[in-house]
Amino acid sequence: MPDLMPQSSPASSEPLLVVEGLTKYFPIRRGFFKRVVGQVKAVDHVDFYVQEGETLGLVGESGCGKTTTGRCILRAIEPTDGRILFRDPKLGRVDICKLDKEQIRLVRRNIRMIFQDPYASLNPRMTLLDIVGAPLRAMGLAHGKELEDRVAQMLQLVGLRPEYMRRYPHAFSGGQRQRIGLARALAPYPKFVVCDEPVSALDVSVQAQILNLLEDLQEQMGLTYLFVAHDLSVVAHISDRVAVMYVGKIVELASTAELFSSPKHPYTEALLSAIPLPDPRPREKRVLLTGEVANPANPPSGCYFHPRCSYAEEICKTHEPEFDEVTPGHYVKCHFGRELSLTGVVRMPDR
Ligand SMILES: Nc1ncnc2c1ncn2[C@@H]1O[C@H](COP(=O)(O)OP(=O)(O)OP(=O)(O)O)[C@@H](O)[C@H]1O
Ligand SMILES: [Mg+2]
Repeated sequence: MPDLMPQSSPASSEPLLVVEGLTKYFPIRRGFFKRVVGQVKAVDHVDFYVQEGETLGLVGESGCGKTTTGRCILRAIEPTDGRILFRDPKLGRVDICKLDKEQIRLVRRNIRMIFQDPYASLNPRMTLLDIVGAPLRAMGLAHGKELEDRVAQMLQLVGLRPEYMRRYPHAFSGGQRQRIGLARALAPYPKFVVCDEPVSALDVSVQAQILNLLEDLQEQMGLTYLFVAHDLSVVAHISDRVAVMYVGKIVELASTAELFSSPKHPYTEALLSAIPLPDPRPREKRVLLTGEVANPANPPSGCYFHPRCSYAEEICKTHEPEFDEVTPGHYVKCHFGRELSLTGVVRMPDR
């Protein structure tokens, strides 16, 4: 496993979350007896850390394992292997993979998730008071008048009027619903939030508002984010660092500025090439992603990206590359990460 921990960090700057070798395989079952005939390698030995107050973007095409990674961190699903170390204010430093039920309940006050679809994730039969108040009630954090006050405060924080608390979700637009989801996630004053494509289902005009709100709330509430998206342009402004995932593995991780300006993995180069830029002048070079994403149940040999990679050589077909630190803090899983001169973007895309 590569050493992803920052060197000689004092205890206070110890990351809030450290993920080591995180692996989740889903069994594929067939036939009457539901025999296991294979495994979907949804997340395969993933390593990263997130510092307190930081936003780590997690980007990759559909099915690459982003949501599965987030759900493992919440222990909404059981990881197959690995460690998820979290600095919980009450429990201290814990491995989330090893917690019992009661400890999971406690840690979930501090680790929350925001979902992609603001229509499906809100119960239409519950008022905003019940929706936003549900985690507070379940965790025994507030009740009665205190709970109502807290819900009113949360609604205000996310830009909704407290009087709305007796209404039902159907009365609200997509953007407003995502605000309700945010209020629900943040009501217990968590430390860490997995934002799972929180703006993907929204109109472009509303996306920027929600992203700005997420940034404001991060500052006000001292939040740390794992921000999942399938598109690099969405994470460009909100992330301090970005991890690029391909078929269950992180293939590149760097500070946002460095990843955008000097990508080291051909997959990142292709994702960057797909970003619409404000500058209408034609780009020097356009790298188009061809072929299909590899199947996580039956991935290719060697480097999983080799069938789609225009730089691939023989070794890429036979040997899996290491996750190599090519410059301080810049990791890449490519045999030629140190040699290739790839095209990034000079100016960040506008929000
Ligand atoms: N409960 C499950 N049972 C079996 N396979 C699953 C399950 N959940 C996810 N998978 C598979 O694991 C892989 C990763 O899925 P995941 O939802 O984590 O991807 P994702 O990166 O979040 O994709 P998207 O961008 O579409 O949300 C996919 O191949 C998916 O089909
Ligand atoms: Mg997903």
